[in-house]
Amino acid sequence: MEITCGDLSSAKYDKQKVSINGWCRYVRIHKDKAFIDLADRYGITQLVFESNLLDQARQLGREFVIRVEGTVRKRGKKDINPDMPTGKFEILAESLKIINKSKIPPFEIIEEKGAFLPEEELRFKYRYLDLRRREALNKIEFRDKIIKSIRKFFWDNNFLELETPLLIKDTYDASGSRTFIVPSRIHKGEFYGLPQSPQVYKQLSMISGLDKYFQIARVFRDEDPREDRQPEFTQLDLETSFKDEHYVQDLIEKMIKRIFTEVLHKNIKTPFKHLDYKEAIKLYGNDKPDLRFDNEIIDLTAEMSKTDYNVIKNVIKNGGKAIAINFEAKFGTKESKIDKEFMSEMVEKAKMFGLGGLTWMFVKDKKLRSEPEKIAEAMSGQNSEIIKKLNSKEGDIIIICTDISESLLLSAVSKLRRIIGIKIGKFREEYSFLWVDKFPVFEKDEVTGKLVPMHNPFVMPTEDTIKHIDSKPEEMLGKRYDLVLNGIEVGGGSMRIHDPELQRKILKIMGLNEKEIEESLSFLIEALSYGAPIHGGIALGLDRFVATLAKEDDIREFILFPKNRKFESFIDGSPTPVSEKRLKEDYDLKIDRV
Ligand code: AMO
Repeated sequence: MEITCGDLSSAKYDKQKVSINGWCRYVRIHKDKAFIDLADRYGITQLVFESNLLDQARQLGREFVIRVEGTVRKRGKKDINPDMPTGKFEILAESLKIINKSKIPPFEIIEEKGAFLPEEELRFKYRYLDLRRREALNKIEFRDKIIKSIRKFFWDNNFLELETPLLIKDTYDASGSRTFIVPSRIHKGEFYGLPQSPQVYKQLSMISGLDKYFQIARVFRDEDPREDRQPEFTQLDLETSFKDEHYVQDLIEKMIKRIFTEVLHKNIKTPFKHLDYKEAIKLYGNDKPDLRFDNEIIDLTAEMSKTDYNVIKNVIKNGGKAIAINFEAKFGTKESKIDKEFMSEMVEKAKMFGLGGLTWMFVKDKKLRSEPEKIAEAMSGQNSEIIKKLNSKEGDIIIICTDISESLLLSAVSKLRRIIGIKIGKFREEYSFLWVDKFPVFEKDEVTGKLVPMHNPFVMPTEDTIKHIDSKPEEMLGKRYDLVLNGIEVGGGSMRIHDPELQRKILKIMGLNEKEIEESLSFLIEALSYGAPIHGGIALGLDRFVATLAKEDDIREFILFPKNRKFESFIDGSPTPVSEKRLKEDYDLKIDRV
């Protein structure tokens, strides 16, 4: 009988003749016996080699691939390993075949959770060895379980699983990122674009009458590297016809509820909370607040301008603002998770986020205090005013930040809020889902001053703000919604424009002329003019969603073969140059290499 390395967790194989394949994880050779822990995806099983097989077993090394035939037996009482699911049994080997040798791995493949790991560069370079570790494999299996649960949900709800094309027109899609382009050999000088999302094609599917669509879609974005980004990532993408935003949100909530029941074995409260974009910015400084804790931002510009604290005062004089957050930190007590050292790290973080620095104080004996004392002293006249405004209590920490640029200030403060909030760890709930709604359709590009879509140009404006389209388009709100989980934007979607003339108008407001519209999105406008239904949908960033559910920051751990922080492949080193000859002959292209 053929078994896996996990099967001996059950007693039913006792005394059976079995064959087993796997990798030699731990090899222990004694004088008259050899023990091998054989591993595969399902677990680890102890093999015992005695007498005539001993010499052969002595040739085995770590990660050799072998096939063994033998008999299952109970381990002696003192040899039982309660930490191993298969720990009550072992296989006495009767034949051994070495399928393949292995070079000594560049790092030890250790099964224990929390074991010391090599640098990530090395681990991801040898990802195929990394994935032999239980902990790494668990994350990939967790992702798989979630994807299976998602698929079952949509199949049960009569959604069609469709595949939209990957070689498409290099056109405007998601805002803020560029499209990867692919040269065509047959049409020299012409290019395909790789999809930043299936957006336009899923809309075309709705026009085709395929009213319930979903796809686990690979998408590509040529954007600047960041911690939670990959140049190719996976979206759960969906679209429906003749429904509204409430239907889409309700559908996603039901899907997530199912994932929580089936995969996390937890209950989650629905419906999720909602917050308007404007409120989110006002209360928390960004559009993806972590609502596991309160800690709202408070404007201290007026109070700070009256102090003698010139660091902040001078910025205010030049038109800047001062913003503060109060944290219940129990600072100075044994229970406190925050100390001076951590706050110094936050000052460095604030600089990394683009601020000049960060002022922090604490409350002791009902007074603002600081280290060095002179900071609080400079504010002594406003002491009680500040404490009152922030409702600060004994042991609380107050951070104050300032900058001329309000958007930079809000963005940095909201990031600090999340880091400090997580460190204090006073969570209202384990998983905090939030819908952020009512985004403006347009925002001003800070450099060019032009109106650009906040998300993409397909978002349907709300009925009550569409009246501003000719006079003040920047005041239009869209039927757009983002899904936030524990402060991470895990998804976003909208109702779409289904009127071809409205679509054309939006593109014009963005500054596209007739010719540019013709060249970019006329095929969509044309399709919209053949009877487009009301439609809308959403995409979840699957990598981020899965990582956040697992409470991990690094999405790469949940990607089979991810790219590094410079978006290069750990494994094959791509991107790599292409020969001048091939570029010329196949694509009639020439690159001036610097
Ligand atoms: P959006 O651009 O908001 O929407 O993308 C959806 C979700 O994808 C995730 N995401 C990323 N994940 C990893 N690496 C990246 N580089 C990256 N960029 C985005 C985020 C985000 O919320 N077409 C629309 C969806 C729609 O309207 O239906 C779209 O793509 O979690």
